[in-house]
Amino acid sequence: MDSNLEGQNSEAERAKALKDFDDTKAGVKGLVDTGITTLPPIFVIPDDHEFKVPTIDLQTMNESTIIGEIREACKSWGFFKVINHGIPQDVLDDMIEGVRRFYEQEQEVKVQFYSRDNTRKVRYTSNFDLYRSKFASWRDTLMCHMAPNPPEPDQYPPVFYWNGRDILKDYSEQLNKLGDTLFRLISQALGLVPNHLIDMECAKGNVFYCHYYPTCPEPAKTLGHAKHTDPDFLTILLQDQKIGGLQVLHQNQWIDIPPEEGTLVINVGDLLQLISNDKFKSVEHRVLANPTPSPRISVGYFFTTNFEKSDKKYGPIKELLTPESPALYQETTIADYIESFANAALGGAALAKLRQPAMEAKQKD
Ligand code: OGA
Ligand code: NI
Repeated sequence: MDSNLEGQNSEAERAKALKDFDDTKAGVKGLVDTGITTLPPIFVIPDDHEFKVPTIDLQTMNESTIIGEIREACKSWGFFKVINHGIPQDVLDDMIEGVRRFYEQEQEVKVQFYSRDNTRKVRYTSNFDLYRSKFASWRDTLMCHMAPNPPEPDQYPPVFYWNGRDILKDYSEQLNKLGDTLFRLISQALGLVPNHLIDMECAKGNVFYCHYYPTCPEPAKTLGHAKHTDPDFLTILLQDQKIGGLQVLHQNQWIDIPPEEGTLVINVGDLLQLISNDKFKSVEHRVLANPTPSPRISVGYFFTTNFEKSDKKYGPIKELLTPESPALYQETTIADYIESFANAALGGAALAKLRQPAMEAKQKD
């Protein structure tokens, strides 16, 4: 009753305020000329009108609630954040610090890892798509392939062996556990048995992308990471815990995903969109160039076998197909997909290329 009345009051007040403003016939310039220093309420966009990427609590909600929220998030956002994911804060902090040590070490040491040879399992470059994109991004990236067929331990940068710990391995083990949980939940969110995606080997391959976004002298003129989708099944992203810049395209607007200590960002990749036959969406995202005096560090963990050679083909999951919802994509191997993605310069065209021609899809009915 009270809140209802309040609502009516404020609506009436708003109507009056709009009319008063209109009657001044002086516009917002008139308001400025009166010397106002705060914004009249009619101009203020309330917080709850702004889109926010959903946050999913993996511990305190019951499983069917979690599955429902994951289904909704993967359909409408392609992104969600997780809290209470069970990974200790010091494991997250150590990983970020390891990446910082890698980039801030002597150039002579670092240069041994610099390469554009995509058969190398540990390498760093600035802009994978340097020669293909329209403009370069203000970012360097260290890639570490973890599974399957990992390189010898001495191939990883020594800065990740720290205080008797193997930072890449420790964090990767934690992420594999979380990935297992997520793939089970996502399988169920698709209406499949919990093991379905794991049995399809969606969690078989893992690659770290460790990004370093240094201070940008003219941040408004470029990006830290141009808009793209991820060419994997799923990504678990550990963002810099303080410096923001990550944005996701939602209903045609770039929505900030602000940093939040202890939170991980999960997103659907192209391969999950493909096998889910568009039930779940791989959504474009980007990172603004870093305007702050400190570097922004983030670590993406990609579930994909990347360039690993395999004849295994992925197409829409049979259990999800019906006469009304026929297969929208042709099958592909992961290596072919990654190759096509790289040639499309992060343009999102790789998935579109696999779309069944409309006629073919109809004939299958
Ligand atoms: C990526 C990515 C975002 C970030 O690695 O694909 O989108 O915050 N990273 O670095
Ligand atoms: Ni990405």
